[in-house]
Amino acid sequence: MNTATTEKIAINPATDFLPLQGTDYVEFYVGNAKQAAHYYMSAFGFQALAYAGPETGMKDKVSYVVRQHKLTFVLTTPLRPDNEIAAHIYKHGDGVKFLALKVDDATSAWEETTKRGGKSYMEPKHLDDADGEVVLSGIHTYGDTVHLFVERNNYTGPFMPGFRAWSNPHFAPKDAGLLYVDHCVGNVDWNGMNPWVKFYEDVMGFRNILSFDDNDISTEYSALMSKVMSNGNGYVKFPINEPAEGKKKSQVEEYLEFYKGEGVQHVALATKDIVGTVKDLKSRGVEFLQVPTSYYDDLLERVGAIDEDLEPLKELGILVDSDEEGYLLQLFSKPVQDRPTLFFEIIQRKGAKSFGKGNFKALFEAIEREQAERGNL
Ligand code: FE2
Repeated sequence: MNTATTEKIAINPATDFLPLQGTDYVEFYVGNAKQAAHYYMSAFGFQALAYAGPETGMKDKVSYVVRQHKLTFVLTTPLRPDNEIAAHIYKHGDGVKFLALKVDDATSAWEETTKRGGKSYMEPKHLDDADGEVVLSGIHTYGDTVHLFVERNNYTGPFMPGFRAWSNPHFAPKDAGLLYVDHCVGNVDWNGMNPWVKFYEDVMGFRNILSFDDNDISTEYSALMSKVMSNGNGYVKFPINEPAEGKKKSQVEEYLEFYKGEGVQHVALATKDIVGTVKDLKSRGVEFLQVPTSYYDDLLERVGAIDEDLEPLKELGILVDSDEEGYLLQLFSKPVQDRPTLFFEIIQRKGAKSFGKGNFKALFEAIEREQAERGNL
């Protein structure tokens, strides 16, 4: 049953109180940032960019910044047990702490969102060094996750004040064709989706552009509901999932149990050549969910003609879905830490603006096979 609804009302840029230029960076709190940075470089094709730690005046933590095209990841770890980062990792395991958004005016972003009910994480803060100025501010979102607003138009340094350039001339893995953040998905508690939809509408001026109910997203065993929130220009999209009643435990419930609360479920990374990217990532050891080969038997009847040869898609397990505007190719990694929490999606859009609804069932059945192996279904 097709109950997904689409709403396409553009937000007038002149009245958008929170104009966003896209994702500035994603920061992860991790148990071992040195090794995590190496993983994203060697397995996902990121390049070393910047470093902060005791050597740059940061006494309690270390951060490595890695970049691939417009994607910037920051891996941060605490140096001592008695601080907020260590507490975050103890509770959640490795995970996303900051979804940082690029703005022209971080002061206005903070004022506009906090006056609409956003809970302040950080008042506008000016950071200066010889390369210029960065202004940061931030508000809390679901769980312990934070949206930072980053104003960096007057900054020419490698990342931001407090960081120094970092590279290793002996280790420069080639990039994997990952270009930018397509969307970031949050898992929230039972009955949490609509309140968070309202938060993104009221506090950040986002619109609900797509909705999926448990009829769209269910297998024999479990279900979830999802609403996709988008900012005015569509550069920033945040789908919000909540669990729905099923015969067994859903993947969202498993996430909530192991993350100990709400948080980022997956970050979707865009590529222009998913076959090349996935072949490359697999050869570097990234593990992906596998759908049964029967998925491909009637694929072309379901999605219509596609430019790609079917055989490599089948071999790599790449999924395809179409909507009225085109099609998309996508694939989901296994969790990238031992807790069954955060994973990545690799996505190539060929016109389609949707999220792969036609793949939900096959995909969630693949997740459930893994959940069952973990004893969590
Ligand atoms: Fe996604």
